[in-house]
Parts: sequence; C-alpha cells; structure tokens
Amino acid sequence: MSKPLTQQDRMFVLTGAGVSAESGVPTFRGAGGLWRGHRMEEVATPQAFQSRPDLVWQFYSERRKRAESVFPNPAHHCLVQIEEFLGDRFFLCTQNVDSLHEQAGSRRLAHMHGRLMQTRCSRQSCRSTPFADERLYLSRAEIPTCPQCGALLRPDICWFGEVPFLMDRIFEQLRVCTVLLSIGTSGVVEPAASFVRMAHLNGARAIYVGPEEPANSMFFDEVVLGNAGEVLPRLVKELMRPADQ
Ligand code: APR
Repeated sequence: MSKPLTQQDRMFVLTGAGVSAESGVPTFRGAGGLWRGHRMEEVATPQAFQSRPDLVWQFYSERRKRAESVFPNPAHHCLVQIEEFLGDRFFLCTQNVDSLHEQAGSRRLAHMHGRLMQTRCSRQSCRSTPFADERLYLSRAEIPTCPQCGALLRPDICWFGEVPFLMDRIFEQLRVCTVLLSIGTSGVVEPAASFVRMAHLNGARAIYVGPEEPANSMFFDEVVLGNAGEVLPRLVKELMRPADQ
C-alpha cells in the first residue's frame, strides 16, 4: 500500500498517451502505433511539414476529428481529486496534446508537447500568437497562411527535434516535488523520460502506473502494473487517506 501524502508533500504528475488510452485515444508505440504505414517520427517533424504539409495536416486533422468523440476517463478525474486535495502543491505535466485533462477539470496543467486544438505560424521568427482552432485541413490548398507573414500555418505541437514548451516551469516543479507520479508513458521520449531520475536525485518518491514496465522503471520506487482507469482510483484513495490509517 502506498504511503499517504502529508501536508509537506508536493506532487508532480507526468502523464503520457496511456492515460488517455481508456478514453479511446490510441497510444504512439506498440499495437496500432503506425498511421497509414508511417511511423510517428515520419509525420511529426519540421522536415515532414516542409516536404509534405498536406500529409502532416491530414494526420493532425484525423486526430482533431477523433477528439470530438472522446471523453475523460476515471484516471483523468482522479487527478482532479488529488489537485483539489493538494491545491498549489500539485502540478500536472502532460505529454498529451488532447484536452482531456482540462475537460476533466485539471487547472495546474502544462502541455509540454503543445495542444492539438491550437494552430500557429510555421515561421520561427514570426511574432503572431497561437490560436484556438478545431478545423480540419485535408489538402494542400486548404492549409491557411499566416495573416502577418504569409507562411503556412502548422499545428501548435512540439515535434521530434523541437524543444518542448514551458520547460522552465516544469524544471522548477521537478526541483521542489517530493512525490512524482508517472502514468502511461513508455519512458523512451526525452526529456520527459529523464524527469523521474531528476526528481529521484532530489529525494522525491517516484511511482509509475501502467500495464507494462516503462523503459526507465529502475528509477521508480513503486511500479503499479495495470490500466490507469482501474489502478488510479485505488491508488489515489491510498495517497489521500489520513496518515494514521
Ligand atoms: N493505462 C496506463 N498506461 C497505459 C494504458 C492504460 N490503460 N494503455 C497503455 N498504456 C501505456 C503503455 O504501456 C505505454 O507504456 O502507455 C504507454 C504509452 O506509451 P507511448 O505510446 O510511447 O506514449 P508516450 O510515452 O506518451 O509518448 C511520448 O512520444 O510520439 C511522441 O510526442 C509523442 O507525447 C508523445 C511522446
């Protein structure tokens, strides 16, 4: 049984594709990890966007379409319960670009890989700001251009080879956390794969939840095997129980 949280604890939660799996959002690796025969690394890079913007937008348009019919699952709701319990001592960092955490009610949330439902200019030097966008772009002719500089618009997502968003805030939270809870992430994509090691070096207790051991499992104090939607309700109860029980 996991030790209950105390008034001194600060929790850093890291979520990956697995937390949304039970909502019907496919994970990246493992079964079903290919899209029309392409590996993710072939459609989620700046180079792919340069050579085939239509293909990249088709990929993200399909994901936007699918997002209309998915809803938060018990794992997303459990994280809101812990946030309500800990208040400002809670921080949620997600690698997911879906909006299921905010739909469930999470507030102290950082999308390190961006958001599916946002679009921005593809020119790095352009000062225009990303904007909310749920539209689908299925052909080259449909892809809009930036009203400020004329470059093609792209999904507001961190691709392979790009620097994730909000890293200053994330590193600060990793430095101060006493408990790191990682859910449904295979532990192979950096920098998120190293978060557990960083928190662990600072003395934090680290817990992993997912059906398989992650690649970085050696840095966790507890690995709880199972689907997040089934494991988390039990785990959260254990973490939030009074210290004398
Ligand atoms: N509950 C919890 N975990 C689950 C569940 C579930 N119901 N189903 C699957 N998983 C686990 C798998 O065992 C796997 O370890 O979720 C993990 C999903 O791993 P990946 O598909 O590699 O996803 P993730 O680690 O989030 O990928 C990181 O890689 O492609 C990039 O930018 C993309 O954000 C993504 C990043």
